[in-house]
Amino acid sequence: MRKDYKIQIDRDQFRERLNKYTRKAFKLLPELDEPRILDIGCGTGIPTIELAKLSNGKIIGIDIDQSSLDKLNRKIDEEGFSHRIKTNKCSLFEIEFPDESFDLIWVEGAIYPIGFERGLREWKRLIRGNGFLVVHDEKKGLSSKLKKVSECGYELLNHFSLPMDAWWTEYYKPLETRIKELHLIYKNAPEALKALKKDQEEIEKFKKNPKEFVSVFFIMKKLS
Ligand SMILES: C[S@@+](CC[C@H](N)C(=O)[O-])C[C@H]1O[C@@H](n2cnc3c(N)ncnc32)[C@H](O)[C@@H]1O
Repeated sequence: MRKDYKIQIDRDQFRERLNKYTRKAFKLLPELDEPRILDIGCGTGIPTIELAKLSNGKIIGIDIDQSSLDKLNRKIDEEGFSHRIKTNKCSLFEIEFPDESFDLIWVEGAIYPIGFERGLREWKRLIRGNGFLVVHDEKKGLSSKLKKVSECGYELLNHFSLPMDAWWTEYYKPLETRIKELHLIYKNAPEALKALKKDQEEIEKFKKNPKEFVSVFFIMKKLS
Protein backbone atom coordinates (compact mmCIF):
# COMPACT_ATOMS: atom_id res chain seq x y z
CA MET A 1 0.00 0.00 0.00
CA ARG A 2 1.28 3.50 -0.81
CA LYS A 3 2.18 5.24 2.41
CA ASP A 4 1.19 8.72 1.17
CA TYR A 5 -2.30 7.68 0.08
CA LYS A 6 -4.79 10.54 0.51
CA ILE A 7 -8.42 9.82 1.34
CA GLN A 8 -11.57 11.84 1.53
CA ILE A 9 -14.61 10.38 3.23
CA ASP A 10 -17.75 10.72 1.14
CA ARG A 11 -19.93 12.49 3.66
CA ASP A 12 -22.96 12.64 1.37
CA GLN A 13 -24.07 9.20 2.55
CA PHE A 14 -24.43 10.60 6.09
CA ARG A 15 -25.81 13.99 5.04
CA GLU A 16 -28.57 12.17 3.15
CA ARG A 17 -29.82 10.73 6.42
CA LEU A 18 -30.91 14.24 7.40
CA ASN A 19 -33.11 14.56 4.32
CA LYS A 20 -36.11 13.54 6.40
CA TYR A 21 -36.04 17.11 7.78
CA THR A 22 -35.82 18.59 4.29
CA ARG A 23 -38.95 16.61 3.45
CA LYS A 24 -40.66 17.75 6.64
CA ALA A 25 -39.90 21.41 5.85
CA PHE A 26 -41.07 21.08 2.25
CA LYS A 27 -44.36 19.57 3.36
CA LEU A 28 -45.01 22.60 5.55
CA LEU A 29 -45.29 24.75 2.40
CA PRO A 30 -48.56 25.07 0.51
CA GLU A 31 -48.75 22.92 -2.60
CA LEU A 32 -46.66 24.38 -5.42
CA ASP A 33 -47.18 23.48 -9.05
CA GLU A 34 -44.04 23.52 -11.19
CA PRO A 35 -42.25 25.90 -8.84
CA ARG A 36 -39.10 27.67 -9.93
CA ILE A 37 -36.67 26.90 -7.11
CA LEU A 38 -33.29 28.42 -6.29
CA ASP A 39 -31.09 26.33 -3.98
CA ILE A 40 -28.48 28.70 -2.55
CA GLY A 41 -25.19 27.09 -1.42
CA CYS A 42 -26.35 23.76 -2.81
CA GLY A 43 -22.95 22.08 -2.35
CA THR A 44 -23.02 18.51 -3.63
CA GLY A 45 -26.78 18.79 -3.90
CA ILE A 46 -28.22 16.57 -1.18
CA PRO A 47 -31.22 18.90 -0.71
CA THR A 48 -31.25 19.83 -4.41
CA ILE A 49 -31.89 16.26 -5.55
CA GLU A 50 -34.43 15.81 -2.76
CA LEU A 51 -36.29 18.93 -3.89
CA ALA A 52 -36.46 17.52 -7.40
CA LYS A 53 -38.03 14.37 -5.98
CA LEU A 54 -40.45 16.30 -3.77
CA SER A 55 -41.66 18.74 -6.42
CA ASN A 56 -42.38 18.89 -10.12
CA GLY A 57 -40.42 22.11 -10.38
CA LYS A 58 -37.26 23.39 -12.04
CA ILE A 59 -34.32 23.97 -9.77
CA ILE A 60 -31.16 26.04 -10.05
CA GLY A 61 -28.43 25.17 -7.58
CA ILE A 62 -25.75 27.77 -6.98
CA ASP A 63 -22.49 27.41 -5.11
CA ILE A 64 -19.05 28.96 -5.08
CA ASP A 65 -17.28 25.58 -5.04
CA GLN A 66 -16.86 24.06 -8.50
CA SER A 67 -15.81 20.62 -7.24
CA SER A 68 -19.07 20.27 -5.28
CA LEU A 69 -21.03 21.37 -8.36
CA ASP A 70 -19.15 18.81 -10.48
CA LYS A 71 -20.22 16.11 -8.07
CA LEU A 72 -23.80 17.38 -8.15
CA ASN A 73 -23.75 17.47 -11.96
CA ARG A 74 -22.77 13.81 -12.01
CA LYS A 75 -25.67 12.96 -9.68
CA ILE A 76 -28.09 14.98 -11.83
CA ASP A 77 -27.10 12.89 -14.85
CA GLU A 78 -27.26 9.62 -12.94
CA GLU A 79 -30.70 10.38 -11.51
CA GLY A 80 -32.06 11.65 -14.82
CA PHE A 81 -32.81 15.17 -13.62
CA SER A 82 -30.89 17.14 -16.25
CA HIS A 83 -34.11 18.62 -17.65
CA ARG A 84 -35.08 19.93 -14.19
CA ILE A 85 -31.90 20.83 -12.33
CA LYS A 86 -29.19 23.23 -13.52
CA THR A 87 -26.16 24.40 -11.61
CA ASN A 88 -24.39 27.69 -11.66
CA LYS A 89 -21.09 28.65 -10.06
CA CYS A 90 -21.62 31.99 -8.35
CA SER A 91 -21.27 33.65 -5.01
CA LEU A 92 -24.32 34.00 -2.81
CA PHE A 93 -23.24 37.63 -2.37
CA GLU A 94 -23.71 38.27 -6.09
CA ILE A 95 -26.82 36.51 -7.31
CA GLU A 96 -27.73 38.09 -10.62
CA PHE A 97 -31.15 36.71 -11.53
CA PRO A 98 -33.89 39.24 -12.35
CA ASP A 99 -36.40 40.21 -9.65
CA GLU A 100 -39.13 37.69 -8.84
CA SER A 101 -37.39 34.85 -10.72
CA PHE A 102 -38.31 32.18 -8.16
CA ASP A 103 -41.35 30.78 -6.37
CA LEU A 104 -39.17 29.26 -3.68
CA ILE A 105 -35.67 29.87 -2.39
CA TRP A 106 -34.10 27.03 -0.40
CA VAL A 107 -31.00 27.52 1.77
CA GLU A 108 -29.59 24.69 3.87
CA GLY A 109 -26.50 25.36 5.91
CA ALA A 110 -25.42 28.18 3.64
CA ILE A 111 -26.76 31.45 5.03
CA TYR A 112 -23.82 31.77 7.45
CA PRO A 113 -21.45 33.59 5.05
CA ILE A 114 -23.90 36.46 4.51
CA GLY A 115 -25.74 36.27 7.84
CA PHE A 116 -29.40 35.58 8.53
CA GLU A 117 -30.70 39.14 8.31
CA ARG A 118 -28.73 40.22 5.25
CA GLY A 119 -29.61 37.00 3.44
CA LEU A 120 -33.32 37.53 4.10
CA ARG A 121 -33.14 41.15 2.92
CA GLU A 122 -30.99 40.65 -0.20
CA TRP A 123 -32.72 37.54 -1.53
CA LYS A 124 -36.24 38.91 -1.09
CA ARG A 125 -36.22 40.64 -4.48
CA LEU A 126 -35.60 37.26 -6.18
CA ILE A 127 -38.84 35.78 -4.81
CA ARG A 128 -42.10 36.36 -6.64
CA GLY A 129 -44.86 38.15 -4.69
CA ASN A 130 -45.99 35.86 -1.85
CA GLY A 131 -43.39 33.24 -2.76
CA PHE A 132 -41.40 31.32 -0.16
CA LEU A 133 -38.03 31.16 1.53
CA VAL A 134 -36.86 28.15 3.54
CA VAL A 135 -33.68 28.45 5.58
CA HIS A 136 -31.96 25.73 7.61
CA ASP A 137 -29.58 27.44 10.01
CA GLU A 138 -28.02 27.02 13.44
CA LYS A 139 -30.32 27.53 16.42
CA LYS A 140 -28.00 30.09 18.02
CA GLY A 141 -29.76 33.47 18.24
CA LEU A 142 -33.16 31.91 17.60
CA SER A 143 -35.31 34.60 19.21
CA SER A 144 -33.50 37.36 17.34
CA LYS A 145 -33.81 35.41 14.06
CA LEU A 146 -37.53 34.95 14.62
CA LYS A 147 -37.89 38.72 15.05
CA LYS A 148 -35.87 39.39 11.91
CA VAL A 149 -38.29 37.33 9.83
CA SER A 150 -41.07 39.92 10.09
CA GLU A 151 -38.67 42.89 10.16
CA CYS A 152 -37.29 41.72 6.80
CA GLY A 153 -40.75 41.47 5.24
CA TYR A 154 -41.71 37.81 5.59
CA GLU A 155 -44.42 35.92 7.42
CA LEU A 156 -43.16 32.97 9.45
CA LEU A 157 -45.33 30.05 8.35
CA ASN A 158 -43.59 27.58 10.60
CA HIS A 159 -40.30 26.67 12.19
CA PHE A 160 -38.93 23.57 13.87
CA SER A 161 -35.71 22.43 15.49
CA LEU A 162 -34.08 19.18 14.60
CA PRO A 163 -34.06 16.80 17.58
CA MET A 164 -31.10 17.34 19.94
CA ASP A 165 -29.48 14.09 18.85
CA ALA A 166 -30.18 14.32 15.09
CA TRP A 167 -26.74 15.49 14.00
CA TRP A 168 -25.07 12.90 16.25
CA THR A 169 -27.25 9.91 15.32
CA GLU A 170 -27.58 10.61 11.62
CA TYR A 171 -24.27 12.25 10.78
CA TYR A 172 -21.41 12.32 13.28
CA LYS A 173 -21.83 8.85 14.77
CA PRO A 174 -21.79 7.03 11.39
CA LEU A 175 -18.92 9.31 10.32
CA GLU A 176 -16.96 8.30 13.42
CA THR A 177 -17.63 4.62 12.72
CA ARG A 178 -16.30 5.09 9.17
CA ILE A 179 -13.19 6.88 10.48
CA LYS A 180 -12.48 3.92 12.78
CA GLU A 181 -12.80 1.45 9.89
CA LEU A 182 -10.49 3.55 7.71
CA HIS A 183 -7.96 3.86 10.53
CA LEU A 184 -7.47 0.12 10.43
CA ILE A 185 -7.24 0.01 6.65
CA TYR A 186 -4.78 2.92 6.36
CA LYS A 187 -2.76 2.42 9.53
CA ASN A 188 0.48 2.55 7.52
CA ALA A 189 -0.46 5.55 5.36
CA PRO A 190 0.51 8.80 7.10
CA GLU A 191 -1.28 11.15 4.66
CA ALA A 192 -4.53 9.21 5.04
CA LEU A 193 -4.22 9.25 8.83
CA LYS A 194 -3.65 13.01 8.72
CA ALA A 195 -6.90 13.50 6.81
CA LEU A 196 -8.76 11.23 9.22
CA LYS A 197 -7.38 13.20 12.17
CA LYS A 198 -8.99 16.34 10.76
CA ASP A 199 -12.34 14.57 10.46
CA GLN A 200 -12.02 13.24 14.00
CA GLU A 201 -11.22 16.74 15.29
CA GLU A 202 -14.53 17.97 13.91
CA ILE A 203 -16.29 15.16 15.76
CA GLU A 204 -14.52 16.06 19.00
CA LYS A 205 -15.67 19.65 18.55
CA PHE A 206 -19.20 18.36 18.18
CA LYS A 207 -18.94 16.18 21.27
CA LYS A 208 -17.65 19.10 23.34
CA ASN A 209 -20.63 21.27 22.55
CA PRO A 210 -23.47 19.37 20.85
CA LYS A 211 -25.95 22.14 21.64
CA GLU A 212 -24.14 24.46 19.22
CA PHE A 213 -24.96 22.03 16.42
CA VAL A 214 -28.71 22.07 16.93
CA SER A 215 -30.29 23.54 13.84
CA VAL A 216 -33.64 25.00 12.85
CA PHE A 217 -35.74 25.16 9.71
CA PHE A 218 -37.51 28.47 9.07
CA ILE A 219 -40.38 28.32 6.61
CA MET A 220 -41.24 31.82 5.43
CA LYS A 221 -43.56 33.54 3.02
CA LYS A 222 -42.62 36.81 1.37
CA LEU A 223 -45.00 39.64 2.15
CA SER A 224 -45.45 41.83 -0.88
C1 LIG B 1 -22.61 23.37 4.84
S1 LIG B 1 -22.54 23.37 3.11
C2 LIG B 1 -24.24 23.05 2.70
C3 LIG B 1 -24.41 22.38 1.41
C4 LIG B 1 -25.84 21.93 1.09
N1 LIG B 1 -26.76 23.04 1.08
C5 LIG B 1 -26.30 20.90 2.07
O1 LIG B 1 -27.18 21.21 2.88
O2 LIG B 1 -25.79 19.78 2.03
C6 LIG B 1 -22.37 25.11 2.73
C7 LIG B 1 -22.22 25.39 1.25
O3 LIG B 1 -22.17 26.81 1.07
C8 LIG B 1 -21.24 27.09 0.05
N2 LIG B 1 -20.77 28.48 0.16
C9 LIG B 1 -19.99 29.02 1.12
N3 LIG B 1 -19.75 30.32 0.86
C10 LIG B 1 -20.39 30.60 -0.31
C11 LIG B 1 -20.52 31.76 -1.11
N4 LIG B 1 -19.93 32.90 -0.77
N5 LIG B 1 -21.26 31.70 -2.24
C12 LIG B 1 -21.86 30.53 -2.60
N6 LIG B 1 -21.76 29.38 -1.89
C13 LIG B 1 -21.04 29.42 -0.76
C14 LIG B 1 -20.13 26.08 0.27
O4 LIG B 1 -19.32 25.90 -0.88
C15 LIG B 1 -20.92 24.85 0.66
O5 LIG B 1 -21.22 24.05 -0.46
